[in-house]
Amino acid sequence: MEKIKDYIASNSDRFLEELFELIRIPSVSSSEAHKGDMIKTAEAVREALLKAGADEVQIMDTQGHPVVYGEKLVDSSLPTVLVYGHYDVQPAEPLELWKSPPFEPEVRDGKIYARGADDDKGQLFMHVKAFEFMVAEEKLPCNVKFMIEGEEEIGSPSLKQFCRENKELLKSDVILISDTTMISLDVPSITTGLRGLSYLQVEVTGPNRDLHSGLYGGAVANPVNVLSNMISQLTDESNRITIPGFYDDVIEASKEERNEMAKAPFDLGAYKGALDIEEVDGEKGYSTIERTGIRPSLDVCGIWGGFTGEGAKTVLPSKAYAKISMRLVPNQDSERVDQLFEDYFKSIAPAGVKVVVRSLHGGQGYVSPIDTAAYQAASKAVEETFGKKPVPFRSGGSIPIVSDFEEVLGVKSILLGFGLESDAIHSPNENYPLDNFFRGIETIPYFYKYFSEMS
Ligand code: BES
Ligand code: MN
Ligand code: MN
Repeated sequence: MEKIKDYIASNSDRFLEELFELIRIPSVSSSEAHKGDMIKTAEAVREALLKAGADEVQIMDTQGHPVVYGEKLVDSSLPTVLVYGHYDVQPAEPLELWKSPPFEPEVRDGKIYARGADDDKGQLFMHVKAFEFMVAEEKLPCNVKFMIEGEEEIGSPSLKQFCRENKELLKSDVILISDTTMISLDVPSITTGLRGLSYLQVEVTGPNRDLHSGLYGGAVANPVNVLSNMISQLTDESNRITIPGFYDDVIEASKEERNEMAKAPFDLGAYKGALDIEEVDGEKGYSTIERTGIRPSLDVCGIWGGFTGEGAKTVLPSKAYAKISMRLVPNQDSERVDQLFEDYFKSIAPAGVKVVVRSLHGGQGYVSPIDTAAYQAASKAVEETFGKKPVPFRSGGSIPIVSDFEEVLGVKSILLGFGLESDAIHSPNENYPLDNFFRGIETIPYFYKYFSEMS
């Protein structure tokens, strides 16, 4: 196992070149125009897995983008690790804010800059290379399966059904995922919680056409004004969400848990500095770590309507829209929250407008217990390569399919992510530090080893 460091050192250029090939295919899952690129990327992932030593790799069709499934089964009496990742990426727009083109990966200041460099091509590729090493050294202590999907960034609409239909194929003892962050290379950590999500689009319609704002202004409800006003009623002065029943299923963290969380290293000054903000903001009575880790939140992701072109057009618009995301904590049900939102949102609409609420996607949160063999194996693996015991922490992000894995496959996931919050995932200039990439490759084989020894 000690050879992994040498293996990385003597193959690092090749690893990067291979990762860059994958990144160069713009696999934006949300865009019809990239349908062909999705297939090309799935094929590239298939080739990468075969090259690394998988015995069999299939591109499996779904209702949407295909899933790449690969495996190397060494012995049915050994445990099986199922590696999950996603080959799709978020759109790269706004393009003008990128310092180098998003799909032409470039290393600057020790970081790979590109869309997907971290989320999730860079992170899934660590698994391919760690696996390659284990196969090359004939050290694989367990069976390994790969399920790499192409729809995570659009809410994994086909994957739950795919799991239902392929239960036997996906049978495993643990699911291993690198699609989250750690606190820093100096403070290694393992994600033990993900938030759920309710993502909705609202449409507010006033008059049946755009009106002259002089002739009608003041006499007819303006949907943009109304929508802004309704949104402002979704939270109160303590930044608590006002939707009736919203907090019913939220489990309050105990004093002990909160004390434990407060021990995690967190530098508020550095946090504000990195974002160029004078002050943080959120639910009264909770720390920043708590606000993202154990509390739900509500954000408008986009809002539009009326005239936004050059100059001034005096118009009272017919329609206004917003996209609203609510991050949920474990035990909150996203379908119930969708319903609570819709009922409340309609109840606060004035009579002069019509409101339509559409659910775009959702999913449940996830908590990973730390008293399992899988968590202990991950913890030992990180300790081995980082020289420090990792701290468990709850992330504010979501990977909705993780709770479905538990429900459909009955298998828990380990969130062994190597990204950093500063990697700017989903933003312009997404990046992934080379140190994190290589340290990830180094850590994963130890997970295989310890997990096999412990289970
Ligand atoms: N990899 C992220 C989720 C993530 C990042 C979790 C960092 C924890 C730490 C994933 O690709 C993602 O972006 N998820 C979406 C889910 C949505 C599209 C259904 C999210 O969180 O917005
Ligand atoms: Mn991701
Ligand atoms: Mn993402």
